[in-house]
Amino acid sequence: MQYTQYCDNYDVLSDRASEQLITLIQKKPDATICLATGGTPLLTYRYFVEKINQRRIDIEQVVFVKLDEWVGIPLNSPATCESFLQQHIVQPLDLRPEQLVSFQSKNVNEQECERITEIIARRGGLDLCLLGIGKNGHLGLNEPSEFLEPFCHISVLDEKTRHHDMLKTAANPVTRGITLGLKDILNAKEILLLIAGEGKHDAVEKYLTAIVTTAIPASFLWLHSNVGCLIDSSQYPDK
Ligand code: PGA
Repeated sequence: MQYTQYCDNYDVLSDRASEQLITLIQKKPDATICLATGGTPLLTYRYFVEKINQRRIDIEQVVFVKLDEWVGIPLNSPATCESFLQQHIVQPLDLRPEQLVSFQSKNVNEQECERITEIIARRGGLDLCLLGIGKNGHLGLNEPSEFLEPFCHISVLDEKTRHHDMLKTAANPVTRGITLGLKDILNAKEILLLIAGEGKHDAVEKYLTAIVTTAIPASFLWLHSNVGCLIDSSQYPDK
């Protein structure tokens, strides 16, 4: 199933996205769910945590996977994807450490990519990958380029990404990231793409043409047969 749904605002989008995560967990209590970080999924995660707690849903067997990470800053820096997920998912849900599979941020190399890839494979792959789109059309830290990498890798960040809001508190400039690759993402059984946040008009417009191009890595999602896309229409109205 492929669908694109325009939501009245960010609140409605976040409510729907959180509901989709819950539905998966109710269907598959040992689901493996890959999570993006950043401004886009922030409210989704708040609603998700609230619903899990209010409805007393058992998440003991769920495993979350961190989609990507900035390279070169300490993992406990407030700027990392790790800190984001710790603050918005792990701590409020009181998860055990092994329920978050996540990249290291320092001294990473091929082995770190292999370690994460193996853990995902042992879990039988990703059941769902929740994604946002970058201002430059990136997906995870798969940056626009002449070519894209299928597997988990260390990427060189595009100029726009080096100024990502999350990096405002980073003590030193960040020029590289570690990320699941396009094939890792497309191997997920289900994908949920959230489109919200400012400054993405160009990327969103190009994504919505459904033309697959390495200039907009998110456009590769059109090749997947089970993608839901929720769009905040207060920012990106249906034309
Ligand atoms: P954002 O970032 O959710 O903070 O807009 C998305 C991204 O850069 O991938």
